Amino acid sequence: MRKAFVTGFPIKHSRSPLIHGHWLRKYELQGSYEAIEVAPEDLADFLNGLQENDYVGGNVTIPHKEMAFALCQTREPAAEEIGAVNTLWFEGGQLRGGNTDAYGFLANLDARSPGWDRQKTALVLGAGGASRAIIYALKQRGLTDIRIANRTLTRAEELADRFGSGISAHEWTAVPELLQDATLIVNTTSLGMEGKESLSIDLSDVRRDALVTDIVYVPLETPLLKAARMVGLKTVDGLGMLLHQAVPGFEHWFGVRPEVTSELRDLILADMNGGKT
Ligand code: ATR
Repeated sequence: MRKAFVTGFPIKHSRSPLIHGHWLRKYELQGSYEAIEVAPEDLADFLNGLQENDYVGGNVTIPHKEMAFALCQTREPAAEEIGAVNTLWFEGGQLRGGNTDAYGFLANLDARSPGWDRQKTALVLGAGGASRAIIYALKQRGLTDIRIANRTLTRAEELADRFGSGISAHEWTAVPELLQDATLIVNTTSLGMEGKESLSIDLSDVRRDALVTDIVYVPLETPLLKAARMVGLKTVDGLGMLLHQAVPGFEHWFGVRPEVTSELRDLILADMNGGKT
């Protein structure tokens, strides 16, 4: 039986076991996918022992993505560029790291708003770890004007330097002005997450054809998405990114490329509505 895992610290909130468990049943595969809590100081031992413990690979999540990047033996280009790893598997006996967050972000927008990438001016709010994958994704997809606004300007500047031409860094206070010509608005900050302050920005001057998306998915409709919907803008929630980022890992471990369906989405929504966040 092929065994895969997700590890983080803590890990009990993770919905990845539900996603992969659904696919294992759907495709009638002999396999397992379990959540394993590993403290940061134990991550190296855990990853070094994977083969011995018969794991074919797994996911790593907060706070392990950067450490897993350093610990794997080879890496895919997306992981190299983003500087973090969320998916691990063995290739030629070596532990290989990938980053599927950028893929998940793009696949979600492609599925829910086809043609979203015809327009080229994006405003990315936030410059933390999550933002790196989004900037990489947008650049890969050919967006030519990516503006990063962050409370701490230096972090936005570091990202703009890292990813090069077509990317600019801005003060948080510039957001109202930047909103005016953005055709894609992405929240990558933790604002709007359940239990955190909400992201309150005035969307009344935003272009009518702009698309607004949030990588936060608890709650599913964040205050930003609600505000966008209220002024008639198109929105895409962040749950699809979680579902799509799981696809490449499942294929590596179990040999089947799984489909993201409304049935899967409903399963996760039911779990969220069950009170577990
Ligand atoms: P992640 O890895 O999830 O992106 P992170 O690296 O802690 O987490 O980044 C969180 C992001 O939310 C950052 O862009 C952060 O801004 P700073 O770089 O200035 O810290 C942003 N953020 C968090 N709280 C915020 C607030 N109250 N107002 C504005 N931005 C905030």
